[in-house]
Amino acid sequence: MLPLMGTSAVYWSLVTDSVTSLLSASNHAKLRRTRSCVIRRVAVAVAFGQASKMPTPLLRVLVGCVLTLAAGNTAMAAQRGISRSSVYRQVSILAELGRKLFFDPRLSSSGQLSCASCHDPAHAYGPPTARSVEAGGKDMRRVGLRAVPSLRYSQVTPHFTEHFFDSDDEPNAGVDNGPTGGLTWDGRADRGRDQARLPLLSSSEMANDSPAVIVAHVKKSSYASLLRDAFGTAIFDNTQKAFAGVLQALEAFEQQHTEFYPYSSRYDAYLAGKAALTAQEARGLTAFNDPAKGNCAHCHPSALGADGTPPQFTDYGFAALGVPRNMDIPANTDPAFYDLGLCGPLRTDLRGHPEYCGMFKTPTLRNVASRHSFFHNGVFHTLKEVFGFYAERDTNAEKWYRRNQDGTVRKFDDLPARYHANVNIEPPFDRHAGDEPVLSAQDIDDIIAFLQTLNDGYLDGKRQPKVSPSGRWPALREAGGRF
Ligand code: HEC
Ligand code: HEC
Repeated sequence: MLPLMGTSAVYWSLVTDSVTSLLSASNHAKLRRTRSCVIRRVAVAVAFGQASKMPTPLLRVLVGCVLTLAAGNTAMAAQRGISRSSVYRQVSILAELGRKLFFDPRLSSSGQLSCASCHDPAHAYGPPTARSVEAGGKDMRRVGLRAVPSLRYSQVTPHFTEHFFDSDDEPNAGVDNGPTGGLTWDGRADRGRDQARLPLLSSSEMANDSPAVIVAHVKKSSYASLLRDAFGTAIFDNTQKAFAGVLQALEAFEQQHTEFYPYSSRYDAYLAGKAALTAQEARGLTAFNDPAKGNCAHCHPSALGADGTPPQFTDYGFAALGVPRNMDIPANTDPAFYDLGLCGPLRTDLRGHPEYCGMFKTPTLRNVASRHSFFHNGVFHTLKEVFGFYAERDTNAEKWYRRNQDGTVRKFDDLPARYHANVNIEPPFDRHAGDEPVLSAQDIDDIIAFLQTLNDGYLDGKRQPKVSPSGRWPALREAGGRF
């Protein structure tokens, strides 16, 4: 048995971070697939305490990744030679710095907005309010276009690719599944560090004028020494490198598995044979999986992978569901404006692809029952509405869309007519006006009951230590750093 086995959660985080870095550095498609598989294997090992059952070659890969990447990534490790303890320390410093940055409102030009204001740890790192979109900007009165996603389980998102051919879990090699992966609703950032740049500099979010402003703040902050510890005492002499360090620290924090991918829901316990579902939840799961009912698992997979990895409840694919226009979003008061997801306007590299217009990334459904706004534009505020829409979009469109002046229903009102052919018509969206809706009121209640089993927290204190959002892994220390 390799020494890696007895190590702590932080070290596991380093493993996944390092694997991410190593594999994401490569454009090779096979590696990209392996990446998500390896990371999910690590995740399942962590979640179910099965580390000792991991195959030895995989362990060797992981250990190799840690050592190679630690050398590349960290100034200290390179300076002092690589020992397990220096790598461990390096990652602890980076993640701790990331935590400080994540909760610091002074990182915004208004002084009022931290990452955590929108991504609240008490709400699975999703939005704390029921607003469709959160406010930000220099005066805290600007609002963007999109609902705040949960940051839980986004760490295993594969990098964006236009043509995704197969996965290790599915027997569909050779089929082009189309655009897949990437962070944000349109997949325009591949890594946490690329993504973190967006809110820091966006005029409707943290609204900093330049990276230099952010670096200057960090230099004055009480945690400046952490950046020096991580990247060397001269780090503040180079604004570009210091900013890159800030972004990397935020990414490292987002990879702390105890907070960001705990796999601690009752459904995880059920899959591990340690909890039962009620009759209603079990009916909900059946309707969710049934291709002739919800067909939800087609895009939101719910089963353990062939290799025992826990389901993410997203296949990271993109689809146009024809979600109604949200008139509460100020930009939408301009009838000529459309948020078209993959083909723009926020994402710019796929503008010449009309076949992608209206497509947004399939979100994970883990913790979805703790949210208060749904879909990319936050147009719905209850799951009942969401599934009413799923069931009746085509049978009773008049319930879900606005009307034209002549009284006709403006179906798919958030998508110009030339893109209507992009809208998904697979089950459950295969019905027509006048048909019976595919989901009954009872099915909807059952599915909602099932989705509640996906909220994290059930296993807290049972299998793994609980970590306070602002603490320095106190519980982990108490637990001796073990699971
Ligand atoms: C004003 C609210 C707001 C603030 C502040 C904010 N975010 Fe976000 N975040 C969002 C929204 C909205 C999205 C979706 C953006 C999109 O699809 O274009 C998002 C998306 C993300 C994602 C992608 C998640 C996924 O699975 O696709 C990550 C990661 C993230 N934010 C991290 C951060 C970090 C780190 C900070 C602080 C530096 C931060 N956010 C600050 C609102 C916010
Ligand atoms: C064709 C793939 C597909 C199928 C089938 C599908 N979904 Fe989705 N789901 C998506 C996409 C894509 C989105 C995001 C759409 C958007 O925001 O424009 C989404 C969004 C959601 C959301 C909102 C989550 C959030 O955080 O805002 C919920 C809840 C949901 N789906 C549940 C279900 C359920 C339950 C079913 C079965 C009745 C189902 N989905 C079937 C692709 C699918």
